[in-house]
Order: sequence, then C-alpha cells, then structure tokens
Amino acid sequence: MLQWDPELDIFYSGSLAQLTWAVRAHLFDQVTQRYLASHQEAITIELGAGLSTRYYRVGQGYRYWLELDLPEITTLRRQLDTETDHHRFLAQSALDFTWMDELPGNPENLLIIAEGLLMYFEENQVQHLIDQLRHRLPGATLVFDALGGTSNSKGAKQLAQLGAPLNWFIKNEQDIAAMGLSLTSVQSLIQANCRYPHRIGFFVGSLG
Ligand SMILES: C[S@@+](CC[C@H](N)C(=O)[O-])C[C@H]1O[C@@H](n2cnc3c(N)ncnc32)[C@H](O)[C@@H]1O
Repeated sequence: MLQWDPELDIFYSGSLAQLTWAVRAHLFDQVTQRYLASHQEAITIELGAGLSTRYYRVGQGYRYWLELDLPEITTLRRQLDTETDHHRFLAQSALDFTWMDELPGNPENLLIIAEGLLMYFEENQVQHLIDQLRHRLPGATLVFDALGGTSNSKGAKQLAQLGAPLNWFIKNEQDIAAMGLSLTSVQSLIQANCRYPHRIGFFVGSLG
C-alpha cells in the first residue's frame, strides 16, 4: 500500500488539476497510438516514467517498451509492476545517456516520451539531451511537454517548496525549434482542457 502525501493535495485534488493531468495523459496516449499504428517495429521508451500505466493502455502487443526513471522510483515500480522481455524497466537518470546505447533497432522506429519531465531540468540539460538524441538516435521521435510562464508563478513556487523546482520555461514553440528539433505537431494543454467545459466549470452569463 502506498502512502499519500497530503502536501501533494494542491496539485491533484482540485477538479481543474485532475482534468489537466488526465487530458495531458490522453494527448500523450493519442500521439503514442498514432506512432505505434504507423511503425510496426516501434520501440517506445518513457523517460521519467514514474508509475505511468501508458504501456497497459496503448502499448501491449508492440515490440518493446521501456520505462526509465531514477533508481528509487524504479524500485517502487518493481513492487507494483512486473518486468517482462517486452516491457523493461531502467533505473537511471535520463541525463546519463548510456540508455541510448541499449536501444535495439533502427532509431527511425523509436518513440521517446518525456511527460512531465523536461521542465524540471535546467535549460542547458534539456539542450544537452536534445543534442545527444540528435547525435546518437537520428530519426527518432520525441514527444514531450514544455511550460510557458516563469518560476515566479504560484504553482512554480509551490513545487519549489516541495523540493521539485521548475527550471525550464519556453516563450513559444520557436524556442523548441531553436534547440534543434523539427516540430511535427504542437498542442496547447489549456486549449485541450477547453474541450471538456463541463469539467472545468465554465459559466456563461447573460448581462442583458
Ligand atoms: C512529474 S513526474 C511524471 C511521471 C510520469 N511521466 C507521468 O506523467 O505520470 C516526473 C518523473 O520524472 C522523474 N525524474 C526526475 N528527474 C529524472 C531524471 N534525471 N531522470 C529520469 N527521471 C527523472 C521523477 O522521478 C518522476 O517520476
């Protein structure tokens, strides 16, 4: 049984927060499903996988799926999930680039998912990761989320207090392209949330 840390309530208990995490996971699922449908030999790796259950939602039956996270989190996953030949767990930092050498097959069949991860890295670490990916795994596809805003926002300050400071922010997608990635698709999480107005609590009032 996992204990719930009440300090996390502010990030998970509100209905908007719950909607946002669910919509984010759904958007990543959709991108993953599209990729898998068009790459029969796909290999997927989730960086900073946490306790993601995406493999069970969309990845079963495909060739190879890896979950990478820091040793402490991978130990926790091993208590809750079972590693198989097709579903492997890697206990290391995404910034220890040796994982890139362990991936079988053609990088053009490689999908790298980084959901809720890169914003915790410093910008130079994100740049280094991208440089290494381009160098070692040319043709791979990276799907990730990035934050606008600044470290002065309320949410960023709350996360910093919890010991998980946000470090990487972008102004717009041109910042991503400038880091050396060819963008194939960009989606706004806020706009995606708006597809579910009944969950956000949208109120429309007439003042007439
Ligand atoms: C906000 S959680 C996201 C988890 C999961 N991707 C999801 O969306 O549910 C961030 C995860 O990144 C992991 N993480 C932090 N720094 C990391 C690093 N340097 N390398 C790999 N994982 C890291 C944390 O342990 C945590 O599981």
